[in-house]
Amino acid sequence: MIIRKNRLIFAAFMCTFALSACDEGDILDKDESVQTEGKVASLTATLDGIETWSSQYSIVLAGFAEGSTNATVQKKLQATDGEPFATTLTLTEGEISTVELCVTNRLRERVVSFVSVPLSQLSGDTLFIDAGRVDVGMYKTIQDLVFTGTCARCHGLGASPAGTLSLVEGQSYSQLVNHSARLPENGLRVVPGDADESLLHKVIHGDPEAGVSFDHANMIKEQTTITLIDNWINAGAKE
Ligand code: HEC
Repeated sequence: MIIRKNRLIFAAFMCTFALSACDEGDILDKDESVQTEGKVASLTATLDGIETWSSQYSIVLAGFAEGSTNATVQKKLQATDGEPFATTLTLTEGEISTVELCVTNRLRERVVSFVSVPLSQLSGDTLFIDAGRVDVGMYKTIQDLVFTGTCARCHGLGASPAGTLSLVEGQSYSQLVNHSARLPENGLRVVPGDADESLLHKVIHGDPEAGVSFDHANMIKEQTTITLIDNWINAGAKE
């Protein structure tokens, strides 16, 4: 969502400064990348929850080409929880249209982006990114990325939560981890360390053996998000 918003801001920016381009039609089809040679991104931030991520993931400052889900260049962030820090990323490799404070997997695929700044905001050779204080925790990410937007409208925000499961922030964790399913024969919703045995895993994979009458298959669009939930469970389902 953050990315899309920034794209819109970027598009508005382009319209203001390149009206002729707008007249010609769909500017979003155009290559919005900027040559990056000699440019640098400079991040200041205070992060919470960095150490909650499992080993498959890195919290990085990364550059992405327009429309790409894989980082062109990235730098792993080494920060202490709750302490302000600063770092830079040299943007030498190829063309980049956004620089993002994000999490990538081992294939350098974007799993979640917390802050995304378009390269059009360069001042001189430097792209300044002041991210402020960000909770980047693994469970907090799942809550924000999936539960709050996609699930809570049925699970907790209405009169009675579907399947007696609330996935509203502040309630979801204790209702999932080591918590029995609505029907005892469905086992535990989340078994820390064992995704395959967890009802949550079966439900989001659309497993017919989940024993749940409502089909949740394809509800989560991104494969990286489904894998994120499985990896979180297998890494011990920490809050
Ligand atoms: C459109 C409404 C709807 C949405 C959106 C929805 N669910 Fe459900 N969910 C249900 C219903 C209805 C049930 C109960 C089905 C049953 O008990 O047979 C259920 C049951 C479940 C259960 C089983 C709970 C138990 O203890 O039996 C889990 C786990 C679950 N949902 C997870 C999710 C997740 C994760 C999301 C978001 C990705 C989500 N659901 C989104 C309607 C929804």
